Amino acid sequence: MKRGAVRYPTWVDVLEAQGEQREDLILRMVRAMTLRQKIRQMAGRMHVWEMLVSVFRYNFRPFRAGEDRKLGLPPLRFTDGPRGVALNRSTCFPVSMARGATWDVDLEERVSEAMAVEARSQGADFFGGVCVNLLRHPGWGRAQETFGEDPYLLGEMGAAMVRGAQRHLMACVKHFACNSIEESRFYVDVRVDERTLREVYLPHFRRCVEEGAAAVMSAYNRVNGQYCAHNAHLLRDILKGEWGFRGLVMSDFVLGTRDTVRAALGGLDVEMPQAWYFGRKLLRAVRRGKVPETVVDEAVTRILRQKARFARLGEEDYGPHRVACSEHADLALEAARKGVVLLKNEGGTLPLRLGELSKLAVVGRLADLPNIGDHGSSRVRPPYVVTVLQGLRNRGGKSLEIVYRDGRDVAEAREAAGSSDACVVVVGLSARDEGEAMPGPVKVGGDREDLSLRPQDVRLLEEVAAVNSRCVVVLEGGSAVLTAGWRDRVGAILMAWYPGMEGGNAVADVIFGLVNPSGKLPVTFPEDNDQLPPFNKKARSVEYDYYHGYRLFDKRGLRPAFPFGFGLSYTTYEYRSLNIGAEEIEADGSLLVEAEVANVGPLAGEEVVQLYVGYPASEVDRPVKELKGFARIRLEPGESKRVSFTLRAKDLAYYDPESHRWVVEKTAYDVYVGASSAPEDLPLRGSFRVV
Ligand code: BGC
Repeated sequence: MKRGAVRYPTWVDVLEAQGEQREDLILRMVRAMTLRQKIRQMAGRMHVWEMLVSVFRYNFRPFRAGEDRKLGLPPLRFTDGPRGVALNRSTCFPVSMARGATWDVDLEERVSEAMAVEARSQGADFFGGVCVNLLRHPGWGRAQETFGEDPYLLGEMGAAMVRGAQRHLMACVKHFACNSIEESRFYVDVRVDERTLREVYLPHFRRCVEEGAAAVMSAYNRVNGQYCAHNAHLLRDILKGEWGFRGLVMSDFVLGTRDTVRAALGGLDVEMPQAWYFGRKLLRAVRRGKVPETVVDEAVTRILRQKARFARLGEEDYGPHRVACSEHADLALEAARKGVVLLKNEGGTLPLRLGELSKLAVVGRLADLPNIGDHGSSRVRPPYVVTVLQGLRNRGGKSLEIVYRDGRDVAEAREAAGSSDACVVVVGLSARDEGEAMPGPVKVGGDREDLSLRPQDVRLLEEVAAVNSRCVVVLEGGSAVLTAGWRDRVGAILMAWYPGMEGGNAVADVIFGLVNPSGKLPVTFPEDNDQLPPFNKKARSVEYDYYHGYRLFDKRGLRPAFPFGFGLSYTTYEYRSLNIGAEEIEADGSLLVEAEVANVGPLAGEEVVQLYVGYPASEVDRPVKELKGFARIRLEPGESKRVSFTLRAKDLAYYDPESHRWVVEKTAYDVYVGASSAPEDLPLRGSFRVV
């Protein structure tokens, strides 16, 4: 080295440093990089042959971005989730909506960690599995990829995913923001007022950012006129500014970025999966002074910061033996069991006791279909799928005769049901009916403007229910379906969602009473389509109101078919004695809410205890109540437990768009604890004041 020449830090220097020193070395390294080198960090890079292969086999290998051999900088290696790793033959877990129905944060963390291990074992280090878009309307085609309609539940489940995944790799939280119509996703403009945005559509993203998420993916749609990848209000003011996000923002894929200067100024750091608007165009824009170089420096600093943070993380033992291993299959089974929701069980139709049953009819085309979710980017191709029929056979054993009819011939199905001790009908949705709409010659996926079952399915279940009073309907699908009209004719209804590769075993466990159902709905099931906000899947522009889901039902005093948070069990829980830790707290204070829950029935089980808060004396319009806590507990017969929640006054604030501030009102608050959001399921009530 010449005397007096400055030695710039290398990537190895960066990796060896920690904390402030590392940050300083990154800044110095960025300063020393050429503009070309910096801009190379800011976009994905696909060869033409990779693009071609992708048309036939999407996610066939990780998408790479920002490799620089000269500087020793590794690429980001991105792959999709969220129901497992989209590469090769990975474990297929139940979809996020099914896991949302578990309300089990600890389980979610374990599931996510397993996915991350599988991703690392297959050469990826960047996981796009944390989808937390709020389900404004259950007809959203990608409902299955998210955890439901409630910001608090979404935030807690998303944060659990971030925690689990980030023990091994970078997690990407998506799609920021207001992405909840599939078919118009490339152009729809979501108009939303500031208060609704802050209180309804963003809190769960914030929660994931607070958990330390490495990356956020901008959504395809526009919000208040600006594409999300160009949206400085979302990306710069809120995410990077107010929330102090230190990670990187990447675009959603093809058509996720539309303009070089707008994207760079708006706060996008990485264009994926290819440099269509960044790359050479960005170089030109910087040289012409349209994008200040400091903007590029900021983006590259963010990218290098996350690459360094995760470079040496994880374990030694990644490898093919960790992919779809038996341990992960067990986890998929646990998640599927806990996510099944028992919606109706008249006269103890369920469980069907194995010893008391000699012949079982299984009916419906979905009963023997590997039905694990859509065929979009989140598609997972597991080594096997246990269908409901297979699961019933596995668990039923040799002494149970099972007759299967796919239901195309209704008379035949009716005959089988009529001559059996009980009948299981599997109906609902599949990848043909809903999901991510991938471009291509054959239409797949898309939204559902009407939540009804197909008329053939309704006819089938009515016909078999007419000849067998022990008729169990198993519903599959990514979110709510309508049950009015046929619900009263059947004995029991189970919502199984898309339950993953072990799903059939889990459903059979619940049907035969080997597992006590404990799932609770993460989305309101309406009585009819008209109870919901308007939903036009081709909308160019749409207004996202303050009210949706149970908040809307509460406000309008509507009765859904099955409320948010609802799910039955084979045992009975009693809610007793609420204790609110203080009558008054300060605006920066918190209090403890405790409730006792007892299992007064004959079987062990798990219950999801829910805490809601209401604002009876607010000066602004507020929901009747909002979920502010939940806990899943296990109770043996006769056992009771005290469940405690910490409520922070600041979490009860509303957003005041005039002052741009969160306001904790000094007023009275109502507390409700119980088994679902329905008023009759919330027996424990009390109140406190913020002073
Ligand atoms: C989807 C994203 C996905 C990306 C990469 C997009 O079409 O909207 O969720 O992560 O593709 O596959």
